[in-house]
Amino acid sequence: MDVKVNGSSHMLDDAAKDQPAVGLLRDTLGLTGTKLVCGAGVCGACTVQVDGTPMVSCLLPCAAVAGRAVTTVEGLGGSHPVQRAFAAHDALQCGYCTPGFVVAAAAFVDRWRVEHGENAEPPARAVIADALAGHLCRCGAYGSIYAAVAAACTGAHDEDGQTGPPRVEAMAKITGSARYTTDVRLDGQLDGVIVRSTKAHAVVRAVTVPDAGTTTVDLLPDDRTVRYVGRPIAAVAAPTLAAAREAAAKVVVEYQELPAVLDAAVARRPDGPLVYGSRAARRAAPASAEGLVMPARWHGNVRGPSAMGWRGGTAARRIEQARRRGDERLVSARYTTAVQVHTPLEPHACVARWSGPDLHIWVSSQAVGMVVEAASARWKLPPERVHVVAEHVGGGFGAKVKPTVELVAAVELARAAGAPVRVVLDRAEELTDAGNRPGTEVELNLLADDDGRLAALTMDVYGDGGVSTGSSVAALARLIYGNAPRRLRDFDVVTNLPPGTPFRGPGGPPMAWALEQAIDELAQRLGDDPIALRRRWDGNAKRRALYDWAAALPVWAQRPPPGSQTGRFRRGVGVAAANWLYLVDPGTEVELTVEDGVVVARTGTQDMGTGIRSVISGVVRADLGLPPDRVRVEVGRTGTVHGPASGGSRTTTSVAPAARDAARRLRAALTSGGTGGAGGSIVGLLDGSAADGVRAVGRRPRDRRGYFTPFSMGGVRIGRGFSGAVHVTEVEVDTRLGRIRATRVWGGIAAGHIYSERLARSQCEGSIVQGIGFALYEQRHVDPATGIVLTDNLEDYRIPGIGDTPEIEIHFHRDGWDHVTGGGVGLGEVATLSVAASVGNAVHAATGWRPLDLPIRPDRLLAGLAGVAR
Ligand code: FES
Repeated sequence: MDVKVNGSSHMLDDAAKDQPAVGLLRDTLGLTGTKLVCGAGVCGACTVQVDGTPMVSCLLPCAAVAGRAVTTVEGLGGSHPVQRAFAAHDALQCGYCTPGFVVAAAAFVDRWRVEHGENAEPPARAVIADALAGHLCRCGAYGSIYAAVAAACTGAHDEDGQTGPPRVEAMAKITGSARYTTDVRLDGQLDGVIVRSTKAHAVVRAVTVPDAGTTTVDLLPDDRTVRYVGRPIAAVAAPTLAAAREAAAKVVVEYQELPAVLDAAVARRPDGPLVYGSRAARRAAPASAEGLVMPARWHGNVRGPSAMGWRGGTAARRIEQARRRGDERLVSARYTTAVQVHTPLEPHACVARWSGPDLHIWVSSQAVGMVVEAASARWKLPPERVHVVAEHVGGGFGAKVKPTVELVAAVELARAAGAPVRVVLDRAEELTDAGNRPGTEVELNLLADDDGRLAALTMDVYGDGGVSTGSSVAALARLIYGNAPRRLRDFDVVTNLPPGTPFRGPGGPPMAWALEQAIDELAQRLGDDPIALRRRWDGNAKRRALYDWAAALPVWAQRPPPGSQTGRFRRGVGVAAANWLYLVDPGTEVELTVEDGVVVARTGTQDMGTGIRSVISGVVRADLGLPPDRVRVEVGRTGTVHGPASGGSRTTTSVAPAARDAARRLRAALTSGGTGGAGGSIVGLLDGSAADGVRAVGRRPRDRRGYFTPFSMGGVRIGRGFSGAVHVTEVEVDTRLGRIRATRVWGGIAAGHIYSERLARSQCEGSIVQGIGFALYEQRHVDPATGIVLTDNLEDYRIPGIGDTPEIEIHFHRDGWDHVTGGGVGLGEVATLSVAASVGNAVHAATGWRPLDLPIRPDRLLAGLAGVAR
C-alpha cells in the first residue's frame, strides 16, 4: 500500500490499513504537527488535506489514503499565505489546535481565490465560520482566526510581512514544529495506560494483572478506597499504546462496594451515605481551591461554613426585617451553575526517563517549578536531580498547575520498566478526571436602603466539587461594592464524583453570576440604570472609569428597554462587573546570557499560550534596543533561575519587571565590563567576541508600597489593589427555538500597563469565549445511577466553536497601578469572571425572563418564557 505524504512516497504494511491515518503520520512518520485531540472527528485538530480536501485523520483509515496525496501542516512549508496571516494576526494562543485550523483554512483560502480571483473581497464572517465549523479552539482565538482567514483571502499576506509576528513562537506553532509533551518520543519508550475505578465508592481488595510480564504500578491511596468512577487504581506499560490498552483491559480489580452518593441534594441529607468516614480520610480530600483551604467543621457530607463576613449579624438581621415588611428593595434568589470542565486541547501528558540518579520529565504543566518540588519530595531526590521540560503547553486554564496522576504514573512505570514511559490521557479521561470548575448553588439576598445604597448582602454557597473541598465563592463577594454589612458563607457538599480543580478565576464566575444578576434585578426595581447603580456602589476608581466607558457605548445608550420586545427574535444588552486579586511571585528572576551574539533569556516559567515568551522578548529588546533576531527566549525548562507558576494571573506581572531588571544589568555588564566600552550600540557590543558568555540575572523589584500579605504562600503574594472588568454583552434570543446567540461583547479591563497589546487582547477575547461557553453550553452530565461521566467526549461536552463567537471589542484602562513595579497586573482571569452574568442580564433585557440556572439551555429558556417552573 503506497501513500504519498507531503510529496514523499511511503510503502505501508497491509496490517496498517485499518489504523487511523493520524497514527501513521504521528507515530510512524514523525509528523507530529498533526494533533490528536478528540479522536472522534469533532475538534479538527488532526485535519490534513487529502488530494487538497481537508479531512480529519483520526477517522480516516490508512487504506482510505492509499494512492492519494496527503498534505500535513509540515507540507505547507510555512510560506502559505494563511500561515503568514495566522502569524500576523496572532490567530493562536497555545497553538495546539493551530495546525488543524491552518490546514483547513489553507484549503478554503485556495478555493476562495480560485473562485473569486487573486485579490478577492474577503468572505463574510458566516462563510468563514461555515468553512471552519469542524474545528475547536479552547483558548478562544477565534476572533483573530476570522481576521487572518479574511485577510489571506484578499491576498494581503502573499508576501512576507515587514515586521515579525507579535508572538515570537508563532511560526513554530503554525508550521507544526513546536514540540509539545505529546510529541516527545524517546528511544525505547513505552506507553502507559491508567486503570481506573468502575465503581463510585469501594475498597479495592485486590488488583490482578494476568500477564506476568506486564509492567504495573499501584496508584491507590493509603486506605485503598476509590471514591468516584474514574479514580486511578493502577497503571500498566507496554511497547505500544494498543498493547498497553489491551493489558489494562485485562487487569482484574476486586472491589468491596460501599454506598455511594451521586447527587449534592442527597449528600446534604443527614441520612446520605458518607463519602468520607473518618477524620483522616477527610484530611486527605483533594482541594478545589487555588490557595489554602480554610478550616471548617463537617456535618455529614457538608463541610462549612468557612465564613468570611463583615458585620454578618447585622446583614442577616436587616435582610430578615426587610423580608418581614415585604420590602421590594430586597432581592432574594437561588442561582445555580453547572460543573464546567477545563478540557485543554493538549491532554495531560508526561514522559519520564530515569538516568542513573537523575529523573527527566517532559510534562504538560503550568508549573515546572512545582513539578520539581513534587517529584523531589515524592521520589526523595535533590531538586537538581529532577530535570523538567514543558517547552510548549497546549492550554491548561488551571488544570495543569498541580502535578497530577499522569506524572506519577509515568515516573513510577519508567522506574519499574527501566525504560522511558509516556502517559497521555485520552479525551474521555480528560473530560472525566482532569479538572473541573465545581458546580454551585447560591442562595442570595441583596438589600438596598432608602437612598438606593447597598444595605446588606448575604450569600450561602454550596460547592458541588465531587470528592474535593475548598469551595470559595461567597468569600469573593467581600471584595467588591464597598463595606456594607454582609454575611458570606461557603460550604462544600462532597459526593462520589470526580474532584474539582481551580479553573480560571476560581469561584469568580459563579459569584458574579449570582451577584451581578441580583444587582441588575435591583436596579430594575429601583428604576435605576444598572451601570449608574454599580458606579454609585463601587468606590474603586479603576472600575468607575470602566463604568464611564461602558455607559458611553452607543449599544448601551440605544438599548431597548428590558422586556419591551415582541416577536420571535429579540435583542437584549446586559452589563456585569468583576474584580480580581493581584497576585505576584516576588522571587521571580530572569537570566540573560550572550551566546553567539544573541541574548538568550531564561527563567523557570512556562508558556501555555498566554505569551510570556513574547513579553520577555519585547521587554529585553526594548530595553537593549535589539532587533527580534538578537533575543531568544527559553522557558519551560528547569536548570535556570526561579520563575512563577502560570496560575492566578501572576506570570507577566512577575516576569516582565525581572526581565527589565536583567536587561539593565546586562547593559551595565556589557558597557562597563571591558567588553567594548560604553557608548556603542548593544548590537555592536554583542558582535564583539568579548560579549560571549556575559551573563546577568535580574530579580523582580519590590512594589513601591509592598504587598498586602506580609509573607508568601506557595511562592505567591497578594499585591495591593484589584484588577477590574466590565462586560457589556448583546444577545439575540430566538424565542421559538430557545437559542441564544451572543452577537457582540465589549470587554473593559483595568489591569494597568499592557506589555504586549495584541497578545493581551487575545487573552481577553479568549476569556470572553470561555465565559460564553459557561453561560450557554458547558455542562458536565453524570449518570445518576452509576456516577459515570456521560459527557466524556467533545460532542456531548459542548465548548464554543468559531460560529458561536461574537464580535469582540476590548478596552484597556491603564491607570492606577503606579505602585506596582512595571505598572501592570494580570488579566487572564478577571477578563472572564463577569461574562456569563452579562449574558444573563442581556437575556433578561431581551425577554423579561431572568435565567437563574447555568447553562441557559434552550429547554430552560423555553420553559422560562412559558412561565413553566424550572
Ligand atoms: Fe486553539 Fe489553544 S490556540 S486550543
